This record gives sequence, C-alpha cells and structure tokens, in this order.
Amino acid sequence: MEVLRVVGGSPLRGEVRLTGAKNSVLKLMAATLLAPGTSTITNVPDILDVEIMAELLRRLGCEVGHDVPSSSLVITVPERPDHRADYDLVRRMRASVCVLGPLVTRLGAADVALPGGDNIGSRGLDMHIDGLRRMGAQVTSEHGYLLAQSEGRLTGASVWLDFPSVGATETLVMAAVLADGETVIDNAAREPEIIDICTMLQQMGAAIDGVGTSTLTVVGVDALNPVQHETVPDRIVAGTWAAAAVMTRGDVTVRNAHAEHLSIALEKLATCGADIDVLPDGFRVSMDRRPQSVDIVTLPYPGFPTDLQPQFIALNAIADGAALVTENLFEARFRFVQELARLGADVRTDGHHALVRGRSCLSAAPVEATDIRAGAGLVLAGLVAEGETTVYGVGHIDRGYAGFVPSLEALGADVRRDVVSDR
Ligand code: UD1
Repeated sequence: MEVLRVVGGSPLRGEVRLTGAKNSVLKLMAATLLAPGTSTITNVPDILDVEIMAELLRRLGCEVGHDVPSSSLVITVPERPDHRADYDLVRRMRASVCVLGPLVTRLGAADVALPGGDNIGSRGLDMHIDGLRRMGAQVTSEHGYLLAQSEGRLTGASVWLDFPSVGATETLVMAAVLADGETVIDNAAREPEIIDICTMLQQMGAAIDGVGTSTLTVVGVDALNPVQHETVPDRIVAGTWAAAAVMTRGDVTVRNAHAEHLSIALEKLATCGADIDVLPDGFRVSMDRRPQSVDIVTLPYPGFPTDLQPQFIALNAIADGAALVTENLFEARFRFVQELARLGADVRTDGHHALVRGRSCLSAAPVEATDIRAGAGLVLAGLVAEGETTVYGVGHIDRGYAGFVPSLEALGADVRRDVVSDR
C-alpha cells in the first residue's frame, strides 16, 4: 500500500504550472461520443480518473491514445459505439455517469451502472433523470443499471433544475445538442467547467446560447463534428496551491491559471493576510505570518467551491482565531475532520456547520484520505504539522492531482511516497 510521508515545517516557494481540470476533461471526453471521427483534447492532466474514463470509452468501442508528454488525448469514436457503461468502471469513478446524455441522444439507448453512494455523500441523479424524461427518454432502473431509451431523437423541452447541479447541467446540455428542437435549461450551473464543455460543443457545431449564465438555450442539430479542444485549467488545484502557500508562509506562483475562476478563494486568502498578485497567466500568493481565520460558505459557482472546503478547514486549523465553515453541497464532506483532529486540529461539526478554532501548531500522525479533496487537505495540514505525517489512501489524491508529489518537492516540501505492508 502506498502512503505519503510529509514532514512539516518547510515554506513552499517557487512556481507550479497547472494542467487541465479533472472536472472538465472527463466530461469533454464523454462529449466526444457525440460525433463519429477523431477528436483531440489538449491540456489533459495525467491523473487516474482520465485513465478510467479512457478505459470506459474503449469499452464503448472508441480508440483512445493518451500522450502524457504532450498532455493530449486522441479519441476516435466509431459510427455506432456500444451503449453500456459497466459497474466495475462506474464504481471506481462516479463521473462515468456523464456518458449517459451523449449515449442516449446519439444512439437512443444508454445503460449506465448506478454509481451508488460515495465518500462525500449520497449524490442523487434525480435531476439528470427528470430532465431526460422531459426530453422524451424513458428512464428506468433495473439490476443496478439506469436504462435510458428513446425511439427516434430526443425532443427539446423546458427544464428547470431544483439546484444548479454541475452534473445534471452537463447531462442535459449534451443530450440537448442532438435533440429535435429547442431545450431551455433554467437554473443551470455556471462553473468554468460548464463553460468549457459548452465551448467545445459549440466548436463541434452545437447551437447553445447563454453560456456562463443560469439559462442555457440549446437548439438541436442533426449531427456534430469531431473537434480539437484545450481543457480549462484546474481552478481547484490552483486553489490548493494558494492555500498551501498561505499555510506554510511561503511564496508560490501558479502559472497557466485563470485567477478570475478563483476570485472568492483568493479574496478569502487576502482576508487571511496574504498578498495576492494577479498575473497575465496566473497569480502569485505570498504570506509572511500566521494567517487570520476566515469564514467560508460553500455554494455553486461563483460561490466558494466545495472542492476547496477541506483545504480551507486545514488552513483555519492553524490560523489565528475561530472560523465558521458552512458546507451546502455535500453533507458527508466533514468526515475528513475526524482525520484532521488526529493532527491536533480543534474542529467541531454540527450538521452542515464546522467551527474551527485555530491552533498555533499541529502535530504529525498517521491519517487516512477518504476522498480527493480530503486527501489534499490532509497533505496541507501535514506540511505545517510538527514531525512526519503519514497519509494513507494516496489513490484518492492520484485521482485528482497530477504530479502532486514532484510539484511539492520542487516547491521545497519534505514529502515522499513510500510503500507499507499494512497499518
Ligand atoms: C461536480 C464535481 C465535484 C464538485 C461538484 C460541485 C465532477 C466530476 N465533480 O460533482 O467535484 O464538488 O460538482 O461543484 O465534476 N444532486 C441531486 N440530484 C441530482 C444531481 C445533484 O440531488 O440529480 C445534488 C448532489 O447530491 C449534491 C448537489 O446536488 O448535493 C451538487 O451536485 P452536483 O453539482 O451535481 O455535483 P457533481 O456534478 O456530482
């Protein structure tokens, strides 16, 4: 079993360069299913989830080549892909569900294993299903699979989402681009990753209006073309580096980043006392003292991202003062707090609130990452804890952070991978 050994105490200093966003590239890969032929996606992060999605596309009959040195994926989609996404892949990565929309709209059928719960909560699919039904699909669930079918093309419809769900917005946009007539998605998500996929779909020939707003209007077309598209940089990885710079009292420049995608998080860090410089191709964060605590409320974009919540709890754990952190998206995300407590953090949770009382130092211990972002939060805490922290569950971190350990080393952290036989 692989672990990370993190020795606290070194400030992070230097530069890191971002690659594309995990939460975008997986959907861009699924979107290639909408057009037969060869599409190329660039700025692809070298992470486990990309490999899982590549394997899923191969099982559907696509050829997928991943050239890691050039960060590009070349995907050749057949005239008639298969329409079944098996449980063994969906259980490894919930985002596999994003093939549902493209398959049903292009082939009239999609059998996608139900992902079940995961470590950050129940995460329903009701909005995906309701929207597809409104567009004329019959959606049932049998033997652990979601079966979506349509005789002929889906038909355009008006869909009002109860919540601006990222996944449901993506499923419905991808379904609508080949549907017959106009689809209006109200209360749509506005994340940069949604803009990224809409931009790619437009380049493929889709007619989408209102990109970046809460109302997306899609007029279906008969067919789409393959495309070459560059993945938007990963704002969550960018925010993780920014928080790490502040916690370690370091000075980190993040290149190939869009600072405007992180406005709230960077403002929060400025409130903590950090200096933030926005650069043409990214930003620089520096800090020369103990951070002030800062309250956080997670919300859909442009609100504070839930995917940075664990990292900011870790920051507050060593800040001066007390902070209230409110989690509005994933109820189980506070599970990681128990692990943080093993490092000496003082965090109390009550429902979807966490009260974090900052301590002047944390003390190293073995801890377990339960999901990607919890893993990042624990590594950040390890960077400031006294002694050597061992982080188990490294596979979670590998799912979302490309080259995390080499980048940390390059910034001056004392961190390494190790193999242990058991705990
Ligand atoms: C995506 C991101 C995830 C991020 C989240 C919110 C990917 C692969 N993952 O997840 O990292 O934390 O956006 O920014 O892109 N919900 C329902 N019914 C539905 C759909 C969603 O109840 O049909 C609920 C979920 O349980 C959750 C909330 O809505 O409480 C937000 O979910 P959603 O925005 O859909 O997140 P994901 O697309 O799953």
